[in-house]
Amino acid sequence: MSAEREPSVDQATADPAAMHAITAEIEAAAQGVFDYARDRLHAGPRDFAAARTPEQMRAAAGETVTEDGIGAEAALRLFTETLAPASVPVENPRFLAFIPTAPTPAAQLFDMALSATPMYAGSWRSSAGSVYAENQALRWLADLAGLPETAGGCFVQGGTVGNLSALVSARHAHRAEHGRGGAPLRVAATGQAHSSVAQALDVMDVGLLEVEPDARGRMTGPALEAALARDGGAGVFAVAATGGTTNLGVIDDLAGVADVCAARGLWLHVDAAYGGAALAAPSARPRFAGIERCDSFIVDPHKWLFAPFDSCALLYRRPELAQAAHRQHAGYLDAARVGADWNPSDYAIHLTRRARGLPFWFSLAAHGTRAYAEAVEGTLRVAREARAEIERRDELELANDTDLTVLCIRRVGWTADDYRAWSARNLEDGLALVTPTEHAGEVITRICILNPRTTVEDIAAILDTMA
Ligand SMILES: Cc1ncc(COP(=O)(O)O)c(C=O)c1O
Repeated sequence: MSAEREPSVDQATADPAAMHAITAEIEAAAQGVFDYARDRLHAGPRDFAAARTPEQMRAAAGETVTEDGIGAEAALRLFTETLAPASVPVENPRFLAFIPTAPTPAAQLFDMALSATPMYAGSWRSSAGSVYAENQALRWLADLAGLPETAGGCFVQGGTVGNLSALVSARHAHRAEHGRGGAPLRVAATGQAHSSVAQALDVMDVGLLEVEPDARGRMTGPALEAALARDGGAGVFAVAATGGTTNLGVIDDLAGVADVCAARGLWLHVDAAYGGAALAAPSARPRFAGIERCDSFIVDPHKWLFAPFDSCALLYRRPELAQAAHRQHAGYLDAARVGADWNPSDYAIHLTRRARGLPFWFSLAAHGTRAYAEAVEGTLRVAREARAEIERRDELELANDTDLTVLCIRRVGWTADDYRAWSARNLEDGLALVTPTEHAGEVITRICILNPRTTVEDIAAILDTMA
């Protein structure tokens, strides 16, 4: 048995609230944090830097958690000089891989204000003001989609949790109507659905009815009907359609899919995590025709709605069905609940939550919805110009027919290794982050434009390196 360790502080006299005091050290840290935030705001997007290995990070940062603490000043310096620079500048206009992000200064600033205000935003009683404001932002999104006044939902961490929560609601509604038992449950989706849909089915232990996408990569009503007819569609309770696929940027035939869902009594979920922002753009809105008939949809403000990580807006046509699935019950919760209060914790897989919709709300409230429509239209315009730029170049081919701002590019004659080497070289040179992707068994590259600061000149500079 090891000897009792000597306590390094006198437990009898130590002040348990010492860390909560505003000391000179904390005053200095406050100044340091505000200075850093102000400097970052004015400095604009950060430059690209090489990725660090775990060994490099250990060598640079060392042991940061110690018994006596390293002090706020040292910890802040460690963050600003060593830790923060070791992150990819997702806000850089030439970050065009995956799904980028481009938070407005207003949204970023407000994230700080939110952090300075500890709030339990899971219930109306605890946080009426923030729930009210989040619901205003959700209402704007519901109106864009054409959902009825009774629609509602909440903000969750990201599209992955949004998709899972929506499909859990769908399953609960199905079981409430049809009971348990019967054929194993399934969700219909194409192979173009985001990987988080497959993960949701795995978590739920639910099967997939695979629907064949059309030549553009869309789920269509007839293809969905054919897939359901092929094996009778037993156990299928929901369809996971996509309003802007991640890899190809196409919007499913939502009207056709909605027809099939209505005829067969299936829950229609639309994953518009990336593309849903384009509902705000009059030029793109018609492509979403049919979304107004969905039972649930998601859109991520941390993608194309210019909010910082992390937030996903999850909306239901009939929130009471989601509440039946998600409301947690416990003595201490049930006794504190009041009547018809709108409690965000009732609509997804979460309980305690920060008011993560508020940075988005603040920017939306400050700038107004027109500014959002114009910013999204602007990125759609740059994507159209970039497309023309690709078509002008003999060595390049477009490999997708996008509805939005994802452009897949084939460099004639390149192998998978060529794409990988080119991508790594661009990052090393600090030029851009553009990564390869796979489509129809072929490695190509893809760019996703959603940062209003990205220009067609940025894209041309990247395309020049493919000559
Ligand atoms: C269409 C779509 N759905 C869901 C997700 C998952 O979102 P998150 O990364 O916020 O969990 C993504 C992420 O890129 C996406 O593009």
